[in-house]
Amino acid sequence: MKIKNSSFVISAVSKTQYPEDQLPEFAFAGRSNVGKSSLINMLLGRKGLAKTSSTPGKTQLVNFYDIDGIFRFVDLPGYGFAKVSKTQKAGWGKIIETYLHNRETLLEVFQLVDIRHTPSAEDIQMYNWIQTAGFNGIVIATKADKLNKNQIQKQLSVIRKTLGMEKDAVILPISSQTRDGKYEFWDMINELFEANEIEIFMERQDGSNKLLNNE
Ligand code: GTP
Ligand code: MG
Repeated sequence: MKIKNSSFVISAVSKTQYPEDQLPEFAFAGRSNVGKSSLINMLLGRKGLAKTSSTPGKTQLVNFYDIDGIFRFVDLPGYGFAKVSKTQKAGWGKIIETYLHNRETLLEVFQLVDIRHTPSAEDIQMYNWIQTAGFNGIVIATKADKLNKNQIQKQLSVIRKTLGMEKDAVILPISSQTRDGKYEFWDMINELFEANEIEIFMERQDGSNKLLNNE
């Protein structure tokens, strides 16, 4: 399918507010400003769907987006604000863990990290939480347009090493600005649908392929 309609569903504070219907979901986790909302907008071809201006208050919300009534993307609260209190940090952790451990329809979690930086202690913690909750965790290295090809390869291995990724664990460089990596992302979504025996197939959405060798 091609995406026809995508829409915002709800910003949930507690799990009683999560959508009740049983659509498959993919969640996006990562530090604030890493590019979660921009990625969701780029993937859906919608400029302003997910709000990209970041305020600390917004970090406490789990944002649900519906794609043609068939599946959902979930924008998880960002972490890593320098100025938040300990209480807020604990609140963030609880919200993420509540979501990860109570969502039967969650197929996979994408962990976003900025391709230019070595993952932080919180990134490592997040990656571990994802696995503790029973998911593989697919790492998405954002803002790849900021580096050249050699730098990208170098940073991918730094990120792999710092997060302690298994050899066969997936890391995908992507740019919401140039849309490099978009095809590969949707190919991966199709693989996840197939692995979960869900009969949805996403046609290649517009994008480009420059980052990988299989041009
Ligand atoms: P929170 O909602 O605070 O958790 O942040 P977020 O992870 O949703 O980040 P957001 O998408 O709002 O992007 C943060 C900033 O990074 C914005 O200024 C974006 O324009 C910029 N940005 C996001 N993706 C890219 C990218 O692929 N390339 C470049 N160059 N900039 C990007
Ligand atoms: Mg955001």
